[in-house]
Amino acid sequence: MNGAPPIIEARKIHTYYGDSHVLHGVDFHIDAGETVSLLGRNGMGKTTLLRSMLGLTPPRSGSIHVDGLECTGASTHETTRKGIAFVPEDRGIFPNLDVLENLTMASRSGPAGGDDWTLKRIFDLFPRLHERRDHMGNQLSGGEQQMLTIARALMTNPRLIILDEATEGLAPLIRLEIWEIVRQIKATGIASIIVDKDMDALLPICDRNYIVNKGTIAYQGKSRELLENPDLCKQYLCV
Ligand SMILES: Nc1ncnc2c1ncn2[C@@H]1O[C@H](COP(=O)(O)OP(=O)(O)OP(=O)(O)O)[C@@H](O)[C@H]1O
Ligand SMILES: [Mg+2]
Repeated sequence: MNGAPPIIEARKIHTYYGDSHVLHGVDFHIDAGETVSLLGRNGMGKTTLLRSMLGLTPPRSGSIHVDGLECTGASTHETTRKGIAFVPEDRGIFPNLDVLENLTMASRSGPAGGDDWTLKRIFDLFPRLHERRDHMGNQLSGGEQQMLTIARALMTNPRLIILDEATEGLAPLIRLEIWEIVRQIKATGIASIIVDKDMDALLPICDRNYIVNKGTIAYQGKSRELLENPDLCKQYLCV
């Protein structure tokens, strides 16, 4: 890279839920424009790592840096204002607002101004949302809700979009649509952190991958290395 600090970085973080010590000295970073996966079996700490970096469950020790500046303990609001958008597992769209309202509520201009995501750009990327623009959030299918959550995140003009369980629980054809959207977002230069169990779809898209195991980073490397190392998959990923 050009020597710029990572967009977001965790250094030796330890995160707890009450007395339960979940993350044990985790290091993580993502540079501008990178697409990075977080892999690992259920309950290994992927969501907790995201929550730690976003200030939702701040680490008890270690530090979080955004653009090289320490922001450990900063509020989620402060972090998202720095161009980091979060698509959580439970999606959290507004059920009683229609698609258009869900989108316009989220809209925020980006630092560059000119390249901002507009409704037109969003509907070009998500033709299904255009068809459904008058439907209420609670009338959408699971796949449409996930599209709306991603679209809403884009309306904040992020530099980094974080997708927890990008395609979990969705039908196979909708999954393919989501992966195509992820590829198109990548092509615009926005960085992504993606959590998903579908390694076959993830690895070709991602530049780097982290395997989270029992609250530690068991492996970090490029997709090709991971594909050439089936033992790693067997040890940490396959059920
Ligand atoms: N709110 C919470 N309170 C207490 N323990 C929690 C809480 N959330 C998660 N945990 C525990 O922390 C550990 C890590 O959970 P986490 O949700 O980060 O895993 P994950 O890798 O995202 O799993 P999944 O693939 O199922 O989403 C698990 O043992 C889980 O039971
Ligand atoms: Mg999770």
